[in-house]
Amino acid sequence: MVVFQNVSKVYANDTAAVNNLDLTIEKGELVVLIGPSGCGKTTTLKMVNRLIEPTSGKILVRGKDIYNENPVQLRRRIGYVIQQIGLFPHMTIAQNIGLVPKLSGVNHEKINQRVEQLLEMVSLDPQLYRDRYPKQLSGGEQQRVGVLRALAADPDVILMDEPFGALDPISREQLQSELKRLHDSVQKTIIFVTHDMDEALKLADRIVLMKDGQVVQTGEPEELIRNPANDFVREFIGEKHILRHPEVVLVEEIMMKTPVVGELQMGLAKSLQKMQEYKVNTLLIVDNEDKLVGILPMKAAQQGIRSGKKLKAKDMLEPVRESVTPHDTVLHAASQLDVSSFGFIPVIDENRHLKGLLNYASLVNTFVDVIWSNNDPINEEEETENGYNSTESMDDISTAR
Ligand SMILES: Nc1ncnc2c1ncn2[C@@H]1O[C@H](COP(=O)(O)OP(=O)(O)OP(=O)(O)O)[C@@H](O)[C@H]1O
Ligand SMILES: [Mg+2]
Repeated sequence: MVVFQNVSKVYANDTAAVNNLDLTIEKGELVVLIGPSGCGKTTTLKMVNRLIEPTSGKILVRGKDIYNENPVQLRRRIGYVIQQIGLFPHMTIAQNIGLVPKLSGVNHEKINQRVEQLLEMVSLDPQLYRDRYPKQLSGGEQQRVGVLRALAADPDVILMDEPFGALDPISREQLQSELKRLHDSVQKTIIFVTHDMDEALKLADRIVLMKDGQVVQTGEPEELIRNPANDFVREFIGEKHILRHPEVVLVEEIMMKTPVVGELQMGLAKSLQKMQEYKVNTLLIVDNEDKLVGILPMKAAQQGIRSGKKLKAKDMLEPVRESVTPHDTVLHAASQLDVSSFGFIPVIDENRHLKGLLNYASLVNTFVDVIWSNNDPINEEEETENGYNSTESMDDISTAR
């Protein structure tokens, strides 16, 4: 739908604002151009509607070289939304929205219908808003009208240059959601410029990350988060968004630090009581130096009580077969977890001191799709069978001890 072929823009001062750009934007795609200030986003955008002419290269819109099109005609068929909104202050909201269709000769009745339909689309009551002037609207409402104005002539390409940049965070989020909904329903080709990565991740079908007038990486948001091409991309996306791989994350970073423990001399009834209290079905049994000596499952405790003998935790212990250290990788821990009969793995140091516990719940939030991308071992049976596995009990456990 929009194709850049080897496009460069060199301003008079000799800096290449855009440098040999090759980029194809498909019909219906919402592509977000993102990058640091001055990297050439606005220049790229403005070349599409010929507000700026490239120094070299070719741009095709709907398969046609725009160099051969009349710029005014071209612009009427391409929606354009900018940060400063650019509503005409002396025109009503309805007149602002209807401007381009009017210039294109659409009749009055049709324009009115269109204006109403558009206002309703973004939850602005036409009765209340159509005859107001821009200054009688909040910033967020004005920005909505700006978007509607770009949609009014039903263009199939819309250019948006930091359209929500000046808004407060709440209006901004609202408008982002609205745009996303709008795009899902009308399937326009949208090129959206921002330097806010949260915004890009939320909106984009595809992100184009630019630096010094060139594309550094392009891909679906997922792709950039999973496989940032280099340190620049990683830094730009921000650590908080980067999906760290389980082979580099250590157990101590995600383990539960306060598992529910019992002592060797604890009576079985008391042990059961503690399991019930913390909604778990095993106790990690430690000696008086806090070293892990075994695991007491609920079933074993119940069995012991039924035997009628006066037994203690130490009499019904099961051995610890699998364990990891705080410095093992999560990937290694996950493989241990898969063979563990308890559905969790105790974390102990070289001297067997209990440091924590790792279970599926600790892994699920961050890693489930990375570790188990091809199969899903967390079946429901396991989840309900073992209290340690449920996220709900994780909160209880973390306050225990
Ligand atoms: N009219 C101009 N004359 C000379 N240089 C310009 C002109 N317009 C932009 N530039 C330069 O071109 C480069 C790219 O500018 P552009 O406006 O495309 O950046 P941007 O990525 O949109 O930045 P921002 O995020 O700050 O809006 C910058 O170095 C800028 O200084
Ligand atoms: Mg800009």
